Amino acid sequence: MRNPKDFFKPMAIGAPEPVREIPFRPSRMIHFFDPSNPKMAAKVPSIAGKCDVLLGNLEDAIQVDNKIAAREGFVKIAKETDFGDCQLWTRVNSLDSPWFLDDMSQIVQEVGDKVDVIMVPKVEGPWDIHYVDRLLAQLEARAGTKRPILVHAILETALGVANVEEIAGASPRMQGMSLGPADLAASRRMKTTRVGGGHPGYLVRADPNPDDPEAPRVTAQQDLWHYTIARMVDACVANGIFAYYGPFGDIRDTLACEDQFRNAFLLGCVGAWSLHPVQIDIAKKVFSPPVDEVLWAKKVMQEMGDGSGAVMIDGKMQDDATYKQCKVMVGLARMLAEKDADLKAAYQF
Ligand code: GLV
Ligand code: MG
Repeated sequence: MRNPKDFFKPMAIGAPEPVREIPFRPSRMIHFFDPSNPKMAAKVPSIAGKCDVLLGNLEDAIQVDNKIAAREGFVKIAKETDFGDCQLWTRVNSLDSPWFLDDMSQIVQEVGDKVDVIMVPKVEGPWDIHYVDRLLAQLEARAGTKRPILVHAILETALGVANVEEIAGASPRMQGMSLGPADLAASRRMKTTRVGGGHPGYLVRADPNPDDPEAPRVTAQQDLWHYTIARMVDACVANGIFAYYGPFGDIRDTLACEDQFRNAFLLGCVGAWSLHPVQIDIAKKVFSPPVDEVLWAKKVMQEMGDGSGAVMIDGKMQDDATYKQCKVMVGLARMLAEKDADLKAAYQF
């Protein structure tokens, strides 16, 4: 264990000081683009205006022959684009790949001051984060970057899930974590070939009717990802970082995508990945708190004053704990309202 007094010392001479708190910037959608695809690259400036986070993907979904073009494309786009208040992230190749080292060195050297967060796939334990932490410090020192680049881990191996708490607390750079349901399903030997979402076979069934044993029995599909998302949220919140749902692969099934995103939102996630422009709007809708909930939360906070004691509002008991729930809702709404004039009007700030 590292001495807690040293936890906030830079890991290399000349590297920027680690942050003491992860800033909570809107990140309802992390929109993926392929920097090796000139058509997609051309759309980046206009998409930046619609997104909280744009992520240049270098890992899976980029063909082996395009790995270097993707890295170089990302550097070029990062240099040439004004992202406004949209964050710029990248997903580098995995630590065991032949591309990781050059991804990190080239990106930090050339655009280290423009990249907010580096997403690291297939993180298995705190040792992976310690390595990335030290390497980033060395590269930042060499490049002379002014602020530390943060790290986001993808939770997508069984070992990673087993070590999720240690990963979340492994470095002051840890910004958050995303569920990677496709790789995680493969790693766990789950029997689904989908990218996220539910499965009709994962269900519970009502008991047979004793008077009519052959009658159809009601079933309810369950959420395959509930356990992992809940563990990830606890690990993240306990360590002052943020949890995200990852990809939803069936682009045409916008309704099920919205449901999966909403489950994650209700469980404590702050955003999800978007793999297609249609998913940007879904994430924006789902991860902005509903207007009626925000107005209700404002009313509760107003009527409760300092939040102590217990009162009845519209027949519902309110106390310290419900006051805190309302504060979460109003806090998020206030922050999003600063970015979005429509939301500001709807939330009546
Ligand atoms: C994302 O990377 C996933 O594997 O689902
Ligand atoms: Mg993956």
